[in-house]
Amino acid sequence: MKAYHLNSHAGAGRLVRTDVSKPEPGNSEVRVKVEAASLNYRDLLILDRAGQNELTGRIPLSDGAGVVDAIGSHVAQWRVGDRVAASFFRDWISGPFKSSYVSSSLGGNTMDGMLAEYVVLPATALVPVPAHLSSIEAATLPCAGVTAWHGLVTRGRMGKGDTLLVQGTGGVALFGLQFATALGARAIVISSSDEKLARARALGGSILINYRDTPDWDVALMKATDGAGASHILELGGPGTYDRSLRSVASGGKIIQIGVLTGFGPKPDLARLQWENADIIGVTVGSVEHFTTMNRFLSEHSIHPIVDRIYGFDEVPEAYAHLRSGSHFGKIVVKL
Ligand SMILES: NC(=O)c1ccc[n+]([C@@H]2O[C@H](COP(=O)([O-])OP(=O)(O)OC[C@H]3O[C@@H](n4cnc5c(N)ncnc54)[C@H](OP(=O)(O)O)[C@@H]3O)[C@@H](O)[C@H]2O)c1
Repeated sequence: MKAYHLNSHAGAGRLVRTDVSKPEPGNSEVRVKVEAASLNYRDLLILDRAGQNELTGRIPLSDGAGVVDAIGSHVAQWRVGDRVAASFFRDWISGPFKSSYVSSSLGGNTMDGMLAEYVVLPATALVPVPAHLSSIEAATLPCAGVTAWHGLVTRGRMGKGDTLLVQGTGGVALFGLQFATALGARAIVISSSDEKLARARALGGSILINYRDTPDWDVALMKATDGAGASHILELGGPGTYDRSLRSVASGGKIIQIGVLTGFGPKPDLARLQWENADIIGVTVGSVEHFTTMNRFLSEHSIHPIVDRIYGFDEVPEAYAHLRSGSHFGKIVVKL
């Protein structure tokens, strides 16, 4: 079967197209014929570390969807032909997070990912694809969709009357925007581009701020909300946005700490949390249970993920370059 490997010696791309043998499922496993895989910002961070030993030879990308192609003898919940997506953490099925799940993330340091024609996974690590979604759309869900859902809805309890701030118009941000719109919450979008803000308005964004033209976007946000601020903030930027997020949070609000778009290691002044009785919720993607609950919501509200561009299997380096450019709106997908 065809696949991509990470390789430190493959030039700037560090992605090598390769042929490897098709994996066979064990008794409790399922083989999935991958139809589409999607890219996340995490995949750029991993590509940039591709020289490190544990990543050499690893198949990248956590996110993918396809069709069950073969099942192990003990597998009862799947049939050949079922449409499925893989969950980000192979081992986080339900219940609270445990740090031991970290090493089960697909396409990370220790586990192969979805950029291959076939993958084998435990039967418990898959979810059914909602009937209204194509495999291309379903491939966008496991990391960005589940992260926004787990942070904003499961933990953040966002609902009608709330005000969400999303930072930028990438994968996690647009899922957050779509969830806010469906739940009847007001959405504030900040972006580098007026054209992207116009598209965000069409998805339900009602307060739109260009953070290039208005670097003090927290001041603009406070003005636009009559001093109330945002009850929910998808904190995606890290050090470059954290202080402004803290200055934008409403009384009793929640900062959902997720991203590192401007780097690692924010050292914010957290005093305002205390004066506003606000919370920080740290999120690392989510479980199979979160994924399943989100899919029910997507079906009930007929939500289709926003796909920016679809690349062919031969064009994977171009797909990564497009993600790195930051010019995308929503998700970038590779069709197998
Ligand atoms: N904790 C977790 O479990 C988890 C899960 C998923 C993602 N993440 C993190 O969340 C972040 C977003 O991931 P993603 O995959 O959605 O990324 P993405 O699709 O690559 O989003 C990139 C977009 O973010 C916006 N952006 C960049 N710098 C910004 C800034 N300084 N202020 C505001 N917006 C900015 C830009 O949008 P505009 O062009 O519109 O400005 C850019 O196009 C990443 O840091 C990722 O590592 C964490």
